[in-house]
Amino acid sequence: MSTTVQKGKFITIEGIEGVGKSSNVNLIADLIQKAGNQVVVTREPGGTPIAEAIRKVLLAEYDEEIFGQTELLLLYAARIQHVEHVIKPALAEGKWVVCDRFVDATYAYQGAGRGIPIEKIDSLHQWALGDFVPDCTIILDASPEIAFERIKKNRDLDRFEKEKIFFFQRIRQQYLQIAGRDKQRYRIVDASRPLKDVQDIIRGIIVNIF
Ligand code: TMP
Repeated sequence: MSTTVQKGKFITIEGIEGVGKSSNVNLIADLIQKAGNQVVVTREPGGTPIAEAIRKVLLAEYDEEIFGQTELLLLYAARIQHVEHVIKPALAEGKWVVCDRFVDATYAYQGAGRGIPIEKIDSLHQWALGDFVPDCTIILDASPEIAFERIKKNRDLDRFEKEKIFFFQRIRQQYLQIAGRDKQRYRIVDASRPLKDVQDIIRGIIVNIF
């Protein structure tokens, strides 16, 4: 185990449902810890009591249509709480932060998925968080067909998971497009490969960040 403590980095993991984000978040956290760093594992929407309460609202189903704008504003309300109370303080203490989804999910789900113009999300992000973005974003990529086979059939699906396959196809394309614009920050990992291969690739990415 290395004894050199690195300056904290902010790593996010993205992808459509069923690509294996959760197990890989744990792998990343483990690697960072084994290298002698403190790590905070968190998620969006969520990560603080208020943000987790907003998450419940976002994932639940009501007998009332929820507009794309409402979704977007709720996500940013949660995100501000999370960034200011959890992420920035942890980074300031030199900890690493690994977050299951972050701002790219908004561009993918609310932008491509719900059809909200990207410039609106850009200006909301700028107003809410300025230039605050992750140091590295890993996008786990797989077709919705493959990803959905992995979602356990015997659990209740949330409001997003009940969307049709086209919704997830648009989201997947948007993730790939975003990643293509900044090869420094984004890494695309083929999540349709066996878990061991995916983990080996992720190990390589994290070791490179050290
Ligand atoms: P999870 O299933 O990864 O925990 O995320 C909950 C849902 O929230 C997921 O279906 C994607 C959705 N989501 C958005 O629509 N926009 C966002 O910005 C984030 C962070 C999540």
